[in-house]
Amino acid sequence: MPEIASRCHVEAIAYLAEKAVSEAGIVKSDIDAVAVTYAPGLIGALLVGMNFAKTCAFALGVPLIPVHHIRGHIAANYLAYPELEPPFLCLAISGGNTMLIRVDGYTDMKIIGSTRDDAAGECFDKTARVLGLPYPGGKPVEQLSQGGDDSRYVFPIAHVTDNEFDMSFSGLKTAVINLVHNCGQTGKDLDRASLAASFTKAVSESLVPRTMLAAERFGFKKVVVAGGVAANKRIRADFKEACENRGLILYIPPLKLCGDNGAMIGSQAYYEFLAGNTAGTDLNAYANMDI
Ligand code: KG4
Repeated sequence: MPEIASRCHVEAIAYLAEKAVSEAGIVKSDIDAVAVTYAPGLIGALLVGMNFAKTCAFALGVPLIPVHHIRGHIAANYLAYPELEPPFLCLAISGGNTMLIRVDGYTDMKIIGSTRDDAAGECFDKTARVLGLPYPGGKPVEQLSQGGDDSRYVFPIAHVTDNEFDMSFSGLKTAVINLVHNCGQTGKDLDRASLAASFTKAVSESLVPRTMLAAERFGFKKVVVAGGVAANKRIRADFKEACENRGLILYIPPLKLCGDNGAMIGSQAYYEFLAGNTAGTDLNAYANMDI
């Protein structure tokens, strides 16, 4: 419910900013610049953050730095791996986006493939919902999958025409929903742990081979995985194995930097600032925006 999400942002933001400053052990006059996510996302929530950031920047007399949300996810890796430098290939997998990105420089990126429908995280969330698990569903599905047999159920892995680096997850989502409903209607036993394991395997098999193909095609030696779904143990392990087999260097953030966080926005803001990308108080928020 976007409207409720926006109101929750209004309730939380001032308290959260105060808490972040105090936990960082700094005072407000130590702040050199204010970074803010301005796109893409739920517009109401973005506007709350942006207006708060504009006010802070104005009151403190410091620059305002607009940051693209997915650029932030990529930059989470610079915090975890200071040695990491572009160029590299990045797979960003979150609740709203699933995309393969060429990162040619800190502020020079191009999308080479993305999902045509649902994001990978959304697919985890819908699978969790049909299984009666809480939202967000990625972690509960991962926990359920422990001990499950990943070959018990065979789920579709979509291949998209026109662009071999594009992906699709809506067929997988529908297949999971149909299986659960079918078992409910016919009284057949549903092995929930194996469903979760088989589903995760299908997601991983949609992501890993495509990423490997893109790395090979574009000649990247470094592969970065970012976003909330990058927290998934099975997906992490599959990427590790695939990269090791090909002599590629893999970077995946530690769990606390996979999901949305403020630190990653600050990390990207540093590079945006160096590139001269600051904004005035006329900055707007955008629900959709190319990287
Ligand atoms: O990056 P993120 O925190 O927010 C967006 O920018 O969307 O990603 C949230 C998504 C949710 O769909 C959530 O279910 C998924 O990441 N997620 C996971 C795991 N932890 C979070 N998916 C699979 N396995 C996990 N362990």
